[in-house]
Amino acid sequence: MTTTLPQRRLGRNGPLLSAIGLGCMGMSDFYGKRDEEESLATIAHALDRGLNFLDTADMYGPYLNEQLVGRAIKGRRHEVFIATKFGIVRDPHDPAARGFNGRPEYVRTSVEGSLRRLGVEHIDLYYQHRVDRSVPIEDTVGAMADLVRAGKVRWLGLSEASAATLERACKVHPIAALQSEYSLWTRDIEASGALAMCRRLGVALVPYSPLGRGFLTGAIRSPADFDADDYRRHSPRFQGENFTRNLELVAQVEALAAARGCTPAQLALAWVLAQGDDILPIPGTKRRRYLDENIGALSVTLDAEDLAALDAVFPAGAAAGARYPQAMMSGVNG
Ligand SMILES: NC(=O)c1ccc[n+]([C@@H]2O[C@H](COP(=O)([O-])OP(=O)(O)OC[C@H]3O[C@@H](n4cnc5c(N)ncnc54)[C@H](OP(=O)(O)O)[C@@H]3O)[C@@H](O)[C@H]2O)c1
Repeated sequence: MTTTLPQRRLGRNGPLLSAIGLGCMGMSDFYGKRDEEESLATIAHALDRGLNFLDTADMYGPYLNEQLVGRAIKGRRHEVFIATKFGIVRDPHDPAARGFNGRPEYVRTSVEGSLRRLGVEHIDLYYQHRVDRSVPIEDTVGAMADLVRAGKVRWLGLSEASAATLERACKVHPIAALQSEYSLWTRDIEASGALAMCRRLGVALVPYSPLGRGFLTGAIRSPADFDADDYRRHSPRFQGENFTRNLELVAQVEALAAARGCTPAQLALAWVLAQGDDILPIPGTKRRRYLDENIGALSVTLDAEDLAALDAVFPAGAAAGARYPQAMMSGVNG
């Protein structure tokens, strides 16, 4: 039976969605072993609980995650708002390599693949996953706007775009959401002006990795916790001295969570939710147990004192190490 959760609007004129969504990426890629059965059960449980905002992308898997989401929502299409993305091109021979493609013809072919894999008639929110600096944003968003006019897509989004790019994009077609990394340990969009620009333009912020790729939950105690092919082994924040220093920060979050009577994951999500009603985080998990815990964050209300205490132990810029390996940093804030 479907229940309801608190809702938030996706941008100034967008639809009302559950205040948190579900990131599906880790079900198929980057974060260790897959468990398809539990992943499908997790998506079904999300819908049962009234969480109706699912996030995927063509490059997760690649392609496997859209197929998985497509299977999970079969027969329940009307209950769910699906966001997917195009524009990061992977190299089958080099798992770490990333290309970016925002050319109009690529936009037109990518959407057909996503519609087919998801098994839907339209995509609710279609993001450009990374800005392609070799193609004017007006051309890419122009092609995306054609998809809206053709009924293949309802709303448009950008991911990791700069304030200036977002402003240019909105002149071509309304942008409903900016999806960028945002959490206690990644606050770049505050300093870069991207968050302020979202507010000026009435664009929702959809924070990805709001749990710091799992680190802020306190569940990750050592790099040895990761499977051999886990992406996080290559991320600067999860390596050597950085790992140890970041663990000390998380210990403080754990202490505050204990005092507040919630879990560290819930406190980290409550912090993101408290940054504004225009923010809809998409914590990722492949387990029903974590999903329920994360939904519980919606009942944790932080007052000014709680927020100040978190700010004191985890000020902006406190995390040790970059959030991406050097080669991948070039794709952000485009
Ligand atoms: N636009 C972009 O460039 C971009 C980049 C990255 C991610 N994303 C999207 O954002 C979504 C969320 O980000 P993310 O998955 O990278 O990071 P996240 O939500 O910060 O963390 C996910 C990790 O935390 C673990 N976890 C979740 N809830 C937990 C809990 N209550 N207790 C302990 N551990 C918990 C998950 O474990 P299990 O998986 O084992 O359940 C997973 O390893 C992704 O799924 C994807 O859809 C977008």
